[in-house]
Amino acid sequence: MNNLIVANWKSNKNTLEVEDFFKVFSPKVKEVSLKRTEVVISPSFPFIYKCNQLISQDELNVSLAAKNISPFTQGAYTGEVAASQISDLAQYVIIGHSERRNYFNEDEDLIKKKVSLANEVGLKVILCVQDENTTVYDGVDTVAYEPIGSIGTGRPDDPERVEEVLTKLHERYPNVRLLYGGSVDSNSIHNYTEIALVKGYLVGGASLDADSFLQLISVCDEKN
Ligand code: PGA
Repeated sequence: MNNLIVANWKSNKNTLEVEDFFKVFSPKVKEVSLKRTEVVISPSFPFIYKCNQLISQDELNVSLAAKNISPFTQGAYTGEVAASQISDLAQYVIIGHSERRNYFNEDEDLIKKKVSLANEVGLKVILCVQDENTTVYDGVDTVAYEPIGSIGTGRPDDPERVEEVLTKLHERYPNVRLLYGGSVDSNSIHNYTEIALVKGYLVGGASLDADSFLQLISVCDEKN
């Protein structure tokens, strides 16, 4: 399985800022000869279409991820975006991010429903977990271990702890690709390059700037 690096832009960037990102990103990402890494960008819903257009126009080898989907199918659910509405625009969906679990009270029932709806329309699921005990449902492609104290804090998790959690997850779910996320930047990423089970990264703050994200892509691609 390839490595995966995901830019989680959270609720950041407007149209102009998305365009500015790609102006810098597109020519440079083409120069990186990606050997084993799939690059994914996760913009907010209104910009998925725009990013899709920019990726085709610039002929980039980059995939897209939604950051959430509705727990319902298409229909009368004002304000929700159904999995089937984005499945022709994005390849992945991030489900169960701790910011959704905490600020929007997403529980396991809801997360399970979303995983199932994503599977129905062929969206690959990146499930976020905060520890080794969280259930990983059938149909999850990738799990991102994101300890809550490390998200957006500048305090990346100890590599020993990351290895311990990933080892336990791998024992329970041997076919799932494992990522680390939480204050990954051009310094902290080197803490994890020796951990064989780390197959990539979910990056928040350090993915907002194109050059900063490109640096992380290169490091990720060197990792076995
Ligand atoms: P961070 O966010 O890199 O800004 O810590 C990671 C995430 O929440 O996915």
